[in-house]
Amino acid sequence: SGAGELAGRRVVITAGPTREPIDPVRYITNHSSGKMGYALAVAARDAGASVVLVSGPVNLPVPVGIEVRPVVTAEDMLKASMDAVDEGCDLFIATAAVADYRPENRADDKIKKSSESMALPLVRNPDTLATIAGRPDAPFTVGFAAETTDVASYAKDKMQRKKLHMIVANDVSVPGLGFNSDNNAVTVFWPDGQEAIGPDTKKAIASRLVALIGEHLKQE
Ligand code: PMT
Repeated sequence: SGAGELAGRRVVITAGPTREPIDPVRYITNHSSGKMGYALAVAARDAGASVVLVSGPVNLPVPVGIEVRPVVTAEDMLKASMDAVDEGCDLFIATAAVADYRPENRADDKIKKSSESMALPLVRNPDTLATIAGRPDAPFTVGFAAETTDVASYAKDKMQRKKLHMIVANDVSVPGLGFNSDNNAVTVFWPDGQEAIGPDTKKAIASRLVALIGEHLKQE
């Protein structure tokens, strides 16, 4: 099966949320427990890959035999991921729920309550997945897409725009699945095919994903 294709490969995975500081006590973030990314890291390790896990702040134990590189912001995630890819990478998988925007300025001191309303200017964050997929030496790249409507069409559009080999679409509008849950249901798209996986545990979905990615890696 495809999983055998992962043996001896170097895999870099992003997981978890990012945190974008507003001041020393507040930040902007996204829902993400890191469970999907950590499950994929374990499945890739079990398939014989050497795995670097670039992880935002999560409450999960470091899996045995996996190198976790902790990051906080989207900018940190880009830098840590580029460094890990520079060291050698056959497969890059982005499961992280990255904040698309960050506060333009980070206040040095806690912002005090004064007026009844306030505006917080935001600026775009760098896109780690698109940056890595756009490298001349790009590894095989797999993205995730968390969507609430038109899941398939948004996901396929992201795959084309970001020049990915595969995309894993996650309908995060289904109660009990997706963010934070131990369970998930996904549809994987590649340029000329698709496969639905689950609903099932993130562990089971991760092992099927690793096998499927392996089948496509072999054809590269
Ligand atoms: O962590 P869990 O609780 O287990 O939940 C798992 C999950 C639902 C977070 C995960 O399965 C998932 O769907 N992750 C992608 C979430 C997301 O916000 O996707 P997106 O559509 O915003 O981004 C598309 C892709 O680009 C993703 O692979 C993302 O990691 C990547 N990206 C996005 C923005 C950015 N600045 N940098 C990126 O690398």
